[in-house]
Amino acid sequence: MKTTAHLLKMKKEKEKIAMLTAYDYPSAKLAEEAGIDVLLVGDSLGMVVLGYDSTTSVTTEDMIHHGKAVRRGAKSTFLVVDLPFGTYHGSQDRTLSNAVRIFQETGAQALKLEGADEIIDSIRLLVRTGIPVVAHLGLLPQSAAVLGGYKVQGKTADAAKKLIEDAILCEEAGACMLVLECIPYQLAKEITERLTIPVIGIGAGAETDGQVLVFHDTVKYGTHHIPKFVEAYAEVGDAIRAGLMEYTAGVKNGNFPQERHRFSMKDDELQQLYG
Ligand code: KIV
Ligand code: NA
Repeated sequence: MKTTAHLLKMKKEKEKIAMLTAYDYPSAKLAEEAGIDVLLVGDSLGMVVLGYDSTTSVTTEDMIHHGKAVRRGAKSTFLVVDLPFGTYHGSQDRTLSNAVRIFQETGAQALKLEGADEIIDSIRLLVRTGIPVVAHLGLLPQSAAVLGGYKVQGKTADAAKKLIEDAILCEEAGACMLVLECIPYQLAKEITERLTIPVIGIGAGAETDGQVLVFHDTVKYGTHHIPKFVEAYAEVGDAIRAGLMEYTAGVKNGNFPQERHRFSMKDDELQQLYG
């Protein structure tokens, strides 16, 4: 099992970190077999797998349910689980009890939360408790309604300056890794150079310490919108649809099932049955 120390060493030695989301047993198993370094049970779960239009409907129960399935599929990959919307703001007691539950029940190596400002205290609280934390800055999907949609962040000098300061605050608060989503590559490069902890980008250019993508985007599984920064490495959705169309036709035209698919009773048993 990789630890946060391994990830730090990867950054130091300039070995890129390949991170991917997963939401269930088979996707986690395939990702582990493929050599993915870090798996994320992202709350993108809500949109990609559960069919909501945003991540804000995802609950602690959802994260635990899917986190456990991913853990069963990928027993020896560094596992990060997202804290869902509204569970790590305000009350420290509630933040801690939610985080501890998700951490204990999923067997994750770290938990991820979005934002800086008041969230810095939540990062510090979890780290003090013994839970490694992955920070997440730039486009924050849990705040999309406030940001006015899913837009590139940090494009102005002022916004970039704030993002650099926030990234440093996350590291100082004890975060073990930082995800940067949808920011200019120049800014992602600057933050990656300034921080000691690994910086993982999604829509943040090639100069970060690693990349993360959403499983379903990476293999084109599902029909949701695919953003500009994604590269699809397989066409799984097309393969599944074609297979299912063939199955449907096979049932209707009598091509399925064949003799090789069936079970039979011996003649003497049949005779006894009919007398
Ligand atoms: O939920 C998610 O999939 C994420 C990644 C996009 C980083 O947070
Ligand atoms: Na997320």
